Amino acid sequence: MTIGVIGGSGIYDALSLENTRTEEISTPYGEPSGRVTLGELHGRTVAFLPRHGKQHQHPPTDASYRANIYALKAVGVDRVIATNAVGSLREELPPRTLVVPDQIFDRTKHRSPTFFGDGLVVHMGFAEPYCPEMASHLATAAEEATNGETRTEAGGTYVCIEGPQFSTKAESEFYRSQGWDIVGMTAIPEAKLAREAELSYATVAGVTDYDVWKDDSEVSLEEVLENAAANEDAINAVIERAIRTMPDDFHSEAWSALEGTINTPTEAIPKETRE
Ligand code: ADE
Repeated sequence: MTIGVIGGSGIYDALSLENTRTEEISTPYGEPSGRVTLGELHGRTVAFLPRHGKQHQHPPTDASYRANIYALKAVGVDRVIATNAVGSLREELPPRTLVVPDQIFDRTKHRSPTFFGDGLVVHMGFAEPYCPEMASHLATAAEEATNGETRTEAGGTYVCIEGPQFSTKAESEFYRSQGWDIVGMTAIPEAKLAREAELSYATVAGVTDYDVWKDDSEVSLEEVLENAAANEDAINAVIERAIRTMPDDFHSEAWSALEGTINTPTEAIPKETRE
């Protein structure tokens, strides 16, 4: 097994990996957000990429989502733990809570959501956008690693906005009225691409703010960055534990996500091989 880790805002360093080396991977989708750092943690091979680059130079719309997933796949990753900084849409999820979401609502507008197209039409199931096995493993790791010191929440809906601006009050109130839990800018298309690449993928999201629905609050970048940095230790502890306790017999349905999904026009198949 090789475990990929995609670090979101505030998570730029490659955990405490040993025997590290970096690999520069070129991909048909451009440059990944940085070199992949490969190393070992508790005897497991880990590949780390910071989603926004080491200097947070890639905004959410233009992050190298396809190149990043391609690069992780190219170095042999079969499961991914991602992290995100998110706003909270619920009173009970204050800043510095860790959430392992199980659903996504996609409000993005300007991102390439697939590796396919151009003659190869793939309709893949995505009812469970996060790998349930990995999400459940991460939620357990979150509870155990934080030992009651940090609030953790298993499950919840992540509404992914385009950004880079934060939401209006009307949008934030609408998301709340739908019963959604957290808001961020990076779950999509990453989760879709991970599934197309048949990777087991789930995330631990660190709450940085109450978005704009609460009181007269305005989200400030300063608050987001400050709480993202404050969440770093807890998130790293969760990832470290999830890696250490990853069962040897871990199995993910995502590993066969493309089975039966390719709609090949009959004319494209030579007559003699058609059934
Ligand atoms: N990332 C962190 N806080 C956020 C918020 N309130 N909205 C969207 N993305 C965020």
